[in-house]
Amino acid sequence: MGNQSHFPVFLLLSLSLTICSFHSAFASSSPHHHKHDHHFNKTMRSLHFSLYQHETINKTGFIVVDGIAGAGVTQTTTPFGTIFVFRDNLTASAEPSASASAVAGVAEGASITSSFDGLRSLSLAKITLKIDGYKGSISILGGTHNTKPSDYPVAGGTGDFLFVQGYIRSSPVDLNGPTVVYKIDFFLYWPPYATAVHVSH
Ligand SMILES: *[C@@H]1O[C@H](CO)[C@@H](O)[C@H](O)[C@H]1NC(C)=O
Ligand SMILES: *[C@@H]1O[C@H](CO)[C@@H](O)[C@H](O)[C@H]1NC(C)=O
Ligand SMILES: *[C@@H]1O[C@H](CO)[C@@H](O)[C@H](O)[C@H]1NC(C)=O
Repeated sequence: MGNQSHFPVFLLLSLSLTICSFHSAFASSSPHHHKHDHHFNKTMRSLHFSLYQHETINKTGFIVVDGIAGAGVTQTTTPFGTIFVFRDNLTASAEPSASASAVAGVAEGASITSSFDGLRSLSLAKITLKIDGYKGSISILGGTHNTKPSDYPVAGGTGDFLFVQGYIRSSPVDLNGPTVVYKIDFFLYWPPYATAVHVSH
């Protein structure tokens, strides 16, 4: 019985809070703001897809500055401070022979070895894409672990990827042989304002 007496108080309180929030929402929306409300689309535009990155040492990727300490150069390690520059084809197939056929994109970038065990680096890349009717590029920046999946935040994009956000995940598929293959999963999201802005080309 004692508990029940609290109910109307709670109801009144929530009712007045509801009225308050309605009131403030109404008060803050001037006729000018209201006019633009229909441009705000709450549906999050997103795009998820996967490609395979093919990299061949001394063909699509090169050590341009030698590292100075720590690990040696192996299939998966490079000395601390090594600068590696690459221009790798991205295709829909993991087959190493696919690197020249049905190219869906190109990853141009560099990695700087940042751990003394030679396994980690700071990587940056511009990924140019032509896929599913989308044409443009995204730029990524983040840490790489040479033998584990690595996530890179998307810093932004150009063309059809203008204002894009999200991340990409790079996972080693085949680290043996002259051509190494990484699976690249793209998780791209456009903020609501991207659809409202029209950029002339
Ligand atoms: C919102 O955007 C999505 C994706 O661009 C589109 O499919 C949808 O029709 C839009 N909705 C409105 C109400 O404009
Ligand atoms: C790549 O080229 C460098 C410099 O010429 C050489 O030292 C290295 O052995 C080459 N690596 C491979 C895997 O061919
Ligand atoms: C990358 O793709 C281009 C265009 O399709 C092709 O000409 C080039 O040979 C490919 N590179 C490699 C290393 O396969």
